[in-house]
Amino acid sequence: MKIGNLNITKGVLLAPLAGVSNRPFRVLAIRAGASITYTGMVSSEGIIRHQQRTWDMMKFQPDEQPIGIQLFGANPEVMKQAAQIISEEFHPDIIDINFGCPVRKVVNKNGGAAVLKDILLTEEIIKATVEGAGQIPVTIKIRTGWEDSNPVYLKVGEIAQNCGIKAITLHARSRSKGFSGKADWSAIEELKRAVEIPIIGNGDIFSPQDAKRMFDETACDAVMVGRAALGNPFIFRQIKHYLKTGELLETSSVKEKIDMAQLHAELMVEQYGEAKGAVMMRRYLGWYVKGFKGAAELRTLLFQVKSINDIKNIFNDYWNQLHAISRNNTGNSDKKIA
Ligand SMILES: Cc1cc2nc3c(=O)[nH]c(=O)nc-3n(C[C@H](O)[C@H](O)[C@H](O)COP(=O)(O)O)c2cc1C
Repeated sequence: MKIGNLNITKGVLLAPLAGVSNRPFRVLAIRAGASITYTGMVSSEGIIRHQQRTWDMMKFQPDEQPIGIQLFGANPEVMKQAAQIISEEFHPDIIDINFGCPVRKVVNKNGGAAVLKDILLTEEIIKATVEGAGQIPVTIKIRTGWEDSNPVYLKVGEIAQNCGIKAITLHARSRSKGFSGKADWSAIEELKRAVEIPIIGNGDIFSPQDAKRMFDETACDAVMVGRAALGNPFIFRQIKHYLKTGELLETSSVKEKIDMAQLHAELMVEQYGEAKGAVMMRRYLGWYVKGFKGAAELRTLLFQVKSINDIKNIFNDYWNQLHAISRNNTGNSDKKIA
């Protein structure tokens, strides 16, 4: 798959995740093998009004690249100006347009997936953004449509291709589905057959086998992983290894997850300072301990942390307790307690 200067084979991309995708999260994903990362969606209105919080969301460093800045908005002129600012001030590898967000705050202003209700507006937004972006390649991320009864992905795919879009990510659900039901991967396969530009398949990849199945069933050019990466940067290495060798890496152990969570916390504190970083880290910690023995009690403690030391102490105590249990059970390997 070629997008601008990027040349990626069997890519495994980290999805744009608003409120989650920040520098630490992206650094860990890239280190684990993610082929491209994204910011969460950024408001085009906020960009052109030079809102500090919005501008901060677009900052990145080379160790988060390749990176796409994802834009949302419903006004073509604003999208054009925002894309222009991004290309002049931030120089990401990609500018991605969000045509998939189902969140009320966004669709009420006719942004995100709401744009898919109006094909002419979709086309205008695409043209304006491509114009504003200059040399930076523009991609789009869509759902199948606003409602199941009115799928528009093939029409939007054709328009996108004609307007200079360099790749399309399809989250294979309509807006009305939210995250419910199963993603309909046959839509990805259909879109892939209908257009020449690269197609990135997205929706319900939770394991290396899922990723391979999506490549096999849809012939997509790359896959994108969202929820499965929460508290689990290992997923990128696991998928890539499986795609390359057909063999599954061992699932990450409790020890590896604790070590990764602590490293993540250190990066958060480095980025946001101790007080803010530790509090921001709470929800990520909740994701890291998913599936741990006694996860509910552990989470209650982790949701109160105020410092790196709090995090270290809680994990130390937890680890010691696990070892005590495992000694009583005569086994002592991490595998046994994982
Ligand atoms: C917490 C969260 C935040 C999200 N934020 C965005 C976003 O900013 N832009 C976007 O295009 N999609 C967003 N999505 C959707 C994901 O990018 C992805 O399309 C969706 O989760 C399906 O992929 P998955 O099944 O691998 O999770 C978000 C999803 C979640 C769970």
